[in-house]
Amino acid sequence: MKAALIGMGVIGKVHRDVLREQGIELAAVCDVLPERREGAKRGYDDYREMILRESPDVVHICTPHYLHTEMIVFALEHGCNVLCEKPLTIHLADIDRIIAAEDASSGMLGVCLQNRYNPSSAFAKRYLVGKKIDRAFGEVRWHRDAGYYASGEWRGRWATEGGGVLINQAIHTVDLLQWLCGDPTDVTGSMQNISLKGVIEVEDTAHLHMEGETPCELFATNTAKEDHPAKVKVVTEGKTLEIYPDRALLDGEPVHPEREDGWYGKRMYGKGHSALIAHFYDCVSKKEKFPLDGREGSRSVRTVLIFYDKCRRGM
Ligand SMILES: NC(=O)c1ccc[n+]([C@@H]2O[C@H](COP(=O)([O-])OP(=O)(O)OC[C@H]3O[C@@H](n4cnc5c(N)ncnc54)[C@H](O)[C@@H]3O)[C@@H](O)[C@H]2O)c1
Repeated sequence: MKAALIGMGVIGKVHRDVLREQGIELAAVCDVLPERREGAKRGYDDYREMILRESPDVVHICTPHYLHTEMIVFALEHGCNVLCEKPLTIHLADIDRIIAAEDASSGMLGVCLQNRYNPSSAFAKRYLVGKKIDRAFGEVRWHRDAGYYASGEWRGRWATEGGGVLINQAIHTVDLLQWLCGDPTDVTGSMQNISLKGVIEVEDTAHLHMEGETPCELFATNTAKEDHPAKVKVVTEGKTLEIYPDRALLDGEPVHPEREDGWYGKRMYGKGHSALIAHFYDCVSKKEKFPLDGREGSRSVRTVLIFYDKCRRGM
C-alpha cells in the first residue's frame, strides 16, 4: 500500500506518525511550504503533479478547509482512495459534487471524523441500539485565542475556514450527536463572536437546537479560559449516558476503562486517528466499504452549513 499526503501542518504530522506506526509507506508528501516537505521520501509543491507521478493507493488530505473539495475530486477522478480531514467541505453545493465523484471513482472516500472510533463512542453506539433516546446535549468549551488564529492565514475567515467553532472544533460533537441520535429535520439557534472581534470574521460561540426524532442541543465555544473535554450527554429510558473522548459514564458510573495507548496529537482530538486510519487501510486492501464515506462524512457538515445559511439570512 502506497500513501501520499497533502498538507504537512498540525494534523498532517499526526497522519504521518500513524502511518509510520502502522508500517505503511508514505511515498510522497505535498506542501506549498518547502520546509514542511523536509525529511519526506519525495516532496511536491503541487498535489496534482504528485498524484499523477506517484499514482498512490491512498491520498491523505490534511489541508485548510477551502481546498478539500478540489483535492478530493481530483484524487478520486484519478482512481485514488482518499482519506480527507474534516470538514468534508465548506460549501453545501459541493457535497453532491463530492458524492458524485465518489460514486464514479474506482477509489473510496473516507472522512476523518475520528471521534467515532473512541472506545467511549463505540460503547455508546452499541449501548443505544434499540433504545429510545429522549434527548441529547453536546458541549464543546475550548480555548482558541488570537495566537491560534494567527497560526494559519486560512483560520478565522469565511472564505477559507468556512466558519468558526462549529465547522472546525465542534464538528466532531455534531457528528457524534447525529451518529447516535439521527439527523435533524431542522436546526435553529444563534452564534456570536464574543472574544475575538477584530481577530476573526467567524463565530467563536454558537448555541444550536437540532429538532428531529431526537431533540438535540449543542453549545460550543472557543472562548473558554482553558480546554475542557468535549462532552455528549444522552438521556435514554431513564438513564443518563455521558460520553467524553476518554471515558463514558452511565448514571455517573464509569462504563469503559481509560486507555492510555493510541494518543496522537493534542489529547482533545481523542484517540481515534490511529483506529480510523487502520480501518480505512483495511477496507481498501479488502475492497470493503468504509463506513465513514462521503455520505456519512457530510451529515454533520450539512447541518452546520444549513445553520450558517439560516443565520446569514436572519432566519
Ligand atoms: N480530525 C481532527 O481532530 C483534526 C485536528 C486538527 C486539524 N484537523 C483538520 O486538518 C486540516 C488541516 O488543519 P491543520 O491544523 O493541520 O492546518 P495547518 O495550517 O497546520 O496545516 C495545513 C498545511 O497545508 C499546507 N497547504 C496549504 N495550501 C496547500 C496546497 N495548496 N497544497 C499543499 N499544501 C498546502 C500548509 O502549508 C500547511 O502545512 C483541516 O481540515 C482541519 O480541520 C483535524
